[in-house]
Amino acid sequence: MARKLIIAANWKMNKGPAETVEFIKAFLPGAEELSASCEIVIAPPFVCMSAAAGLLTDSVVALSAQNVSEQEEGAYTGEVSTSMLNELGAQFVILGHSERRSIYGESDEFINAKVKKALASDLKPIFCIGETLDEREGGKLEEVLRTQVSGGLAGLSEADMANVVVAYEPVWAIGTGVTASPEQAQEAHAFVRSLIKENFGATVAEATRIQYGGSVKPGNSAELMAQPDIDGALVGGASLDAQSFRDLIANGVA
Ligand code: PGA
Repeated sequence: MARKLIIAANWKMNKGPAETVEFIKAFLPGAEELSASCEIVIAPPFVCMSAAAGLLTDSVVALSAQNVSEQEEGAYTGEVSTSMLNELGAQFVILGHSERRSIYGESDEFINAKVKKALASDLKPIFCIGETLDEREGGKLEEVLRTQVSGGLAGLSEADMANVVVAYEPVWAIGTGVTASPEQAQEAHAFVRSLIKENFGATVAEATRIQYGGSVKPGNSAELMAQPDIDGALVGGASLDAQSFRDLIANGVA
């Protein structure tokens, strides 16, 4: 079964509600054509999700959150629950992003709790993994990815995995302008797929979509997406401009 590409915009802490509306109005025309061969997802900041939902409902573009609480509800100041995201019609949630891991100290165990909570609440995790430059240069690439995959996806069933998208994002390529070469990315993706096979078997590994993330732009999306184990992209900087995001997708699906 061929895996459909999935390209997601991770806006991080950029754009307010007004800019969100402006972007989506500029982006939606033409999105339908692109969506024939690629699932398109936009993850704005929490406070923009309501504005985004108003425009994205019944469109070909899915709404994602950038994070979610592992708790159900209650006294968790500053947190956002899965049911709040459900109410807005969100379909995806980015979890385990390297910025959450490194700046906010999220552990594999904590990310695993969020992944499980998301799945139990009909939200599809975009589960992020990736090594730092030190880890890569220190020969720890495989060890780091193995720990992140087995820790973050611990306890999931094969059926759960049908709703998980994995995003491989080498930390040294995020926001730096340095992209992994298509060969480097393909090698890491093939390894990640082998880890999924170890944990969940060959059928799940074959069906799981693995996005590449880290300085993906209109100029390199085609060669990255052409790799056999790269099934899409998680895009930060180049997703902030509607034209750039559209070009990146158009080149990636071509
Ligand atoms: P970037 O970010 O495209 O700006 O490198 C990617 C990400 O962090 O998801």
